[in-house]
Amino acid sequence: MAPDLDSRRWHPDAIPGRLVVLRRHRPEQFPTYLRWYRDPEVARLTRFQVGPITDEEVRRFFLSRLVAPDAFAYAIHLADGDRLIGTTTLSALDADNGSVLFHITVGEHDCWGHGYGTEATALMVGHAIDTLLLHRVGLSVFEFNTRAIRAYEKVGFRVEGRTREAVWRDGRFWDEVHMGILESEWRRRGRHAIGGDREAERISIGAGDGHDGKDPLPAKGFSTRYGER
Ligand SMILES: CC(C)(COP(=O)(O)OP(=O)(O)OC[C@H]1O[C@@H](n2cnc3c(N)ncnc32)[C@H](O)[C@@H]1OP(=O)(O)O)[C@@H](O)C(=O)NCCC(=O)NCCS
Repeated sequence: MAPDLDSRRWHPDAIPGRLVVLRRHRPEQFPTYLRWYRDPEVARLTRFQVGPITDEEVRRFFLSRLVAPDAFAYAIHLADGDRLIGTTTLSALDADNGSVLFHITVGEHDCWGHGYGTEATALMVGHAIDTLLLHRVGLSVFEFNTRAIRAYEKVGFRVEGRTREAVWRDGRFWDEVHMGILESEWRRRGRHAIGGDREAERISIGAGDGHDGKDPLPAKGFSTRYGER
């Protein structure tokens, strides 16, 4: 059967879940993004380089990689009240081989550990596999970021390998852990990935309704700069 090329399904304005809703970034959100970017703990958890970078460089990155029509990036909002709490991106789309890389930052500390990141991850993986018809989603994470690893495991990601002692942090070297989830694993696990209740099942199978906008996907080779996880 020919794939559904309805652009509004492929790049929707919103991807709704139970706890969070993913919405396209807007330029006026830059100050919030910059605050997250400047947060030392977020930098420690997400970036290889934590050296100086100007606000203007961050702004250019935000506009070109998160706001631009061809950026497959979403702001994470709480479903209850619509508070902006983070950002999540698909990058390095390889259409020939059906793979993509996943990135996420919940920038607001008080929103860590409430299930929001897990659900946002499941929504993005569901979208990549169920709607974009991709075969695998990969990511990398520092081995000390145990909260992130746990969230990814809950969605169904498996550890595929490690780049040993790739990052110097807190006075020692740590591995970069590579994780991935395949379409077959998502199909098997996705329905139960975030709790197994009926609502979680609705979310984790992709929440295919409500997709109502689209732009082309980023080209092969698109990646988040500045070493962002
Ligand atoms: C990583 C991140 C997306 C996870 O989202 P989250 O909403 O905080 O996480 P969740 O609440 O969905 O799930 C976290 C899980 O880890 C567990 N956890 C929390 N803190 C933990 C810790 N220090 N060590 C191990 N597990 C931890 C939680 O208990 C939960 O598992 P459970 O449901 O089995 O109890 C979010 O914390 C974040 O963006 N952090 C800052 C940036 C970052 O690290 N990005 C990822 C880069 S790879």
